[in-house]
Amino acid sequence: MSTAISPTAYNYKVVRQFAIMTVVWGILGMGLGVFIASQLVWPELNLGLPWTTFGRLRPLHTNLVIFAFGGCALFATSYYVVQRTCQTRLISDSLAAFTFWGWQAVIVGAIVTLPLGYTTTKEYAELEWPLAILLAIVWVTYGLVFFGTITKRKTKHIYVGNWFYGAFIVVTAMLHIVNHASLPVTLFKSYSAYAGATDAMIQWWYGHNAVGFFLTTGFLGMMYYFVPKQAERPIYSYRLSIVHFWALITLYIWAGPHHLHYTALPDWAQSLGMAMSIILLAPSWGGMINGMMTLSGAWHKLRTDPILRFLVVSLAFYGMSTFEGPMMAIKTVNSLSHYTDWTIGHVHAGALGWVAMISIGALYHLIPKVFGRAQMHSTGLINTHFWLATIGTVLYIASMWVNGITQGLMWRAINDDGTLTYSFVEALQASHPGFIVRALGGAFFAAGMLFMAYNVYRTVRASTPAEAEAAAQIAVVGAH
Ligand code: HEM
Ligand code: HEM
Repeated sequence: MSTAISPTAYNYKVVRQFAIMTVVWGILGMGLGVFIASQLVWPELNLGLPWTTFGRLRPLHTNLVIFAFGGCALFATSYYVVQRTCQTRLISDSLAAFTFWGWQAVIVGAIVTLPLGYTTTKEYAELEWPLAILLAIVWVTYGLVFFGTITKRKTKHIYVGNWFYGAFIVVTAMLHIVNHASLPVTLFKSYSAYAGATDAMIQWWYGHNAVGFFLTTGFLGMMYYFVPKQAERPIYSYRLSIVHFWALITLYIWAGPHHLHYTALPDWAQSLGMAMSIILLAPSWGGMINGMMTLSGAWHKLRTDPILRFLVVSLAFYGMSTFEGPMMAIKTVNSLSHYTDWTIGHVHAGALGWVAMISIGALYHLIPKVFGRAQMHSTGLINTHFWLATIGTVLYIASMWVNGITQGLMWRAINDDGTLTYSFVEALQASHPGFIVRALGGAFFAAGMLFMAYNVYRTVRASTPAEAEAAAQIAVVGAH
């Protein structure tokens, strides 16, 4: 057996497309987040129209940030990582292109149908059946492209990042298809195949694992590639990464009932969900520590490298939200936090601090590479973005902690004669200052995305088609 150098070209076109759309959808989704946050401060912004009410725009926000922004970041990075770590081109350019255009079509469908009020009413699974079917087809194609590429890899080993991406793809398909089982009655109305408490259980099995597999496992795949790359250090412990993988995917799937504490769900199922959520702290922190410790010997780089700062701070927020989550899963704590802004703060500690920050860091690493540039147009602008994002996240979550605990305590306060001490409106009035700070924090975060868009625009504009093509040409060491 001899070793020879053979040239090959990666499919960077689809990576470039998804990367650009991540920025576009990020701005729209977060801009809409700022708008709905402002509606809670100034209700007049509902504009008196059904299409622009908080109730219709809120699910559009969640769909845009999770599936459009987060989804495009996951597609872009997974296609990039799987090619580079398998040292081979994607198995099919046309199927990859189909996933790009199909995914954008689903998003446009969401932008049209959700403000019109077409919704299944299941959180994070709102899209009605025609769009849900299109999404399923795109997703299965994604699986074919991803796993097909792995089967034709030139390397013996399957890098751990691909295991995380792979689990995210498989489990998301399973969750989406099972939770969406329904009976269509018209083109835009369907009824769930499940009823009552079973429906709620399936929905939160889906909902929590959308968090666990879409917003966590996929982004951990990103972490395992981009943190070592940017730090120029090998992953701290490869053994720990394997333990992390199996422990995480085994435990996450059981934690859904913590969304249904004190409901009609059987008590034993609630307690099981609580116990599994507490144990989940261990693999979550194992992964966080593995990422952080990868910086051993490279900590000084944080002084000069804002991209690495994005990646490391995202891990800090990941650690924080995965400590907070297990605490909130404890029934007594949940009796205070549930229905309050504390949950919203927890969500955005994960969503802004972890999901958005790791994606932004990964994109700043990846975009120059796929456009054949040495680096982004401006490191100073990345730094500005970093501070806007960090300050914005802190303002968001701190205001929601204060609001959440205030609301929880006011709602449960009882006078000696058993009547409620505060009316709901009084708790709402007490929340108003927090709503203002949250809107401000969100505006900081969204403003950072505008700096990113400008920086990306200048980087892309400076790249010639020949440079971009040359970047994809890689000499691979192959065995013959
Ligand atoms: C500029 C940034 C953002 C702002 C200002 C913002 C604002 C908001 C607001 C006002 C809500 C509704 C809260 C309520 O019902 O009381 C919300 C919900 C939500 N947002 Fe954001 N958001 C932002 C970014 C993001 C990102 C990047 C993600 C995900 C990656 C995200 C995920 C969610 C989720 C999952 C919910 C629903 C939470 C729940 O039902 O408990 N948001 N957001
Ligand atoms: C060990 C990890 C985690 C555990 C055990 C956990 C636990 C929890 C708990 C107990 C709730 C409140 C449920 C309720 O009262 O309704 C919650 C809500 C939520 N968490 Fe986490 N969490 C974890 C990590 C994360 C991360 C990293 C993210 C985001 C990237 C996240 C996103 C969310 C979302 C979106 C909700 C709101 C769901 C809804 O009601 O719409 N969680 N989580």
